[in-house]
Amino acid sequence: MSYQYPSLDDFPPLKNDLLLRAARGEETERAPVWIMRQAGRYLPEFREVRKSHEFFEVCRTPELATEVTLQPIRRFSGLLDASIIFSDILVIPQAMGMEVLMNPGPSFPDPLNIPADVEKLNKIVDVEKELGYVFQAITRTRMALAGEVPLIGFCGAPWTLFSYMVEGGGSKTFQKVKTWIFKYPEESKALLMRIADVCVDFLVGQVKAGAQLLQVFDSWAGELSPHDFDVFSKPSLVHISTKVRARLAAENLPHTPMTLFAKGSNYALASLAESAGYDTLGLDWCIDPAEARHLVKGKVALQGNMDPNVLYGGRDAIESAVKRMCEGFAVNGGSKAWIVNLGHGITPGVDPEDARWFLECVHKYSARK
Ligand code: CP3
Repeated sequence: MSYQYPSLDDFPPLKNDLLLRAARGEETERAPVWIMRQAGRYLPEFREVRKSHEFFEVCRTPELATEVTLQPIRRFSGLLDASIIFSDILVIPQAMGMEVLMNPGPSFPDPLNIPADVEKLNKIVDVEKELGYVFQAITRTRMALAGEVPLIGFCGAPWTLFSYMVEGGGSKTFQKVKTWIFKYPEESKALLMRIADVCVDFLVGQVKAGAQLLQVFDSWAGELSPHDFDVFSKPSLVHISTKVRARLAAENLPHTPMTLFAKGSNYALASLAESAGYDTLGLDWCIDPAEARHLVKGKVALQGNMDPNVLYGGRDAIESAVKRMCEGFAVNGGSKAWIVNLGHGITPGVDPEDARWFLECVHKYSARK
């Protein structure tokens, strides 16, 4: 069954647009804040849902995906400035015809070992048919949010998805995917672009369904040398930003800010700000905020970047790290072009009360006096 898009005018008006303003590079009275993986295993209410539902079952059941997306918004009422739809980057390989299990990390029983294996992928991917459940979850969640905060849609970057599809899961050495790019560079580039085209359809569909900002996760960008990032990741990232913007404009859809989080790619920050076509660049914690600001020369907004493990350090450590981060991003009587986040996802062992304290400290130290 094909998915029926809503009329975007029917959604409740947005009451908190801090995220969207910061992404457009505007000044805000305080910095907007959200947390990567904010709906996740550190929340007891999430673990409760997971007791009776498999991970991908939650992703595929719009009622459950909406419930889980809303859990952190309810718990941290008034403290979070964005929600992110509950799903996973690996739904794209699934839509392309691959089986993906989650036990507890992702694993692919039948990975792409050699270029001939690409034949096994679906020739044409109908995202409305394969991923319509994500669109339904987005529409339902945007209604349920009642305009409290904007809803972020997302996808994985081609390089990161390609790595999973070849490695068959997480990896420490990235030997299999490196074999592909160095031994079969042309086949690798062709597959990366094929994945990128699915990303474009998927992101445009998410906007039609109600997503108000889009984030692309290139979690394994840091595994590439600067040269190989330019050859095997950046072109597909540029393809996505260019095509998504063109499609949104052609279909009279709202201008939707786009964020790129290319973890570990601080070597590429200046070049990404110059020519990747994203409004915001996400930072991991391995770069000093002031240096990041300097490198991007005001061309993009920034998102990040506290080390997620500071959340294990207790309240004083969290408070001083937030204060330092605010000073580093030159927050001085309000904030500009900065979205607060961690430098990677929040981890399962964090006490939700320490996450709350992080959010409270951000509200305090980034506010206009
Ligand atoms: O709250 C949110 O941020 C939205 C939901 C979200 C999930 N995954 C839910 C999830 C998002 C945006 C993702 C993105 C994702 N998934 C990435 C990119 C971001 C990053 O962390 O680098 C990656 C690489 C994946 C692939 C993936 N999914 C891994 C490696 C794992 C297992 C390891 C882990 O962190 O738990 C998952 C599973 C997953 N995705 C969980 C959640 C809440 C935990 C699984 C569970 O419920 O048992």
